[in-house]
Amino acid sequence: MPIITTTEMFKKAYAGGYAVGAFNVNNMEIVQGITEAAREENAPLILQVSAGARKYAKHAYLIKLVEAAMEDTGLSLALHLDHGADFDVCKSCVDGGFSSVMIDGSHFPFEENVALTKKVVEYAHANGCVVEGELGQLAGVEDDVNVESHSYTDPGQVQAFVERTGVDSLAIAIGTSHGAFKFKPGQKPQLRFDILEDVAKRLPGFPVVLHGASSVIPEFVAAVNKYGGQMPDAIGIPEDMLRQAAKGAVCKINIDSDLRLAMTARIREHFALHPADFDPRQYLTPARDAIKEMVKRKISNVLGCSGKA
Ligand code: G3H
Ligand code: 13P
Ligand code: ZN
Repeated sequence: MPIITTTEMFKKAYAGGYAVGAFNVNNMEIVQGITEAAREENAPLILQVSAGARKYAKHAYLIKLVEAAMEDTGLSLALHLDHGADFDVCKSCVDGGFSSVMIDGSHFPFEENVALTKKVVEYAHANGCVVEGELGQLAGVEDDVNVESHSYTDPGQVQAFVERTGVDSLAIAIGTSHGAFKFKPGQKPQLRFDILEDVAKRLPGFPVVLHGASSVIPEFVAAVNKYGGQMPDAIGIPEDMLRQAAKGAVCKINIDSDLRLAMTARIREHFALHPADFDPRQYLTPARDAIKEMVKRKISNVLGCSGKA
């Protein structure tokens, strides 16, 4: 049950017309819920850790939680740094046991992005770790940064970026965005499949990554609000669009917000039904179940990776 890289996972996913879920982890219940779902579905799995997660839970705890989950479930999985901001954070995760890191140079001009990404690739590859780069920028909220609008990926740049940096996978911007509010109220969700197809043609067999791919399923927003939440209207990426992307070049789909929503809805429901409860085990057990159910839903409705571990 080692921590593995994504290399073989992505080869199989590309050939098999499915994608692997990359789920963000922040605490024990989230790690347990996700890994139990993947075990029951016999699905390949990427657990990913953001800078915010490392600050919240600390690197050492997250590594030990992931190791414990692998021991408990018998799963092999990839452990990935989500949105590495600079060389130092990537190096610290490579040195600290991760099998995959993302260097997010998407906000830099092309040449700076290439130089930074190449530096991370050289260090990571020398130490058995794979690297995800990004071209184009997603809209939405990520850590403390709120990006107003998309900078769609320019397909004309992808070949040069991949060749010059040596990255193992590439995140692209086709209209997905981070957080729960991906489209304005009343706006019809749409993705630039033309860009995805153009990228796929220019990079045959190369794994593409979609960030900001939560579907923000209305019944979960309604459940949060039914039990005292005050979430404004939220619109995500329809599941059928993601499934279509997963059938093609998209091999990794990032999901965080849908897990947060599922967990929060269930905790709110618990307190509405049991207002006097103050035992964390009582409200975190249904929260963990909600994570597990959501991951199973993603595996069957979006990723198509059940039985592919
Ligand atoms: O892409 C961002 C992920 O949803 C992680 O969010 O930085 O709040 O942990 P976070
Ligand atoms: P969501 O906010 O759509 O879940 O995206 C998460 C993500 O892209 C993490 O990198
Ligand atoms: Zn992301």
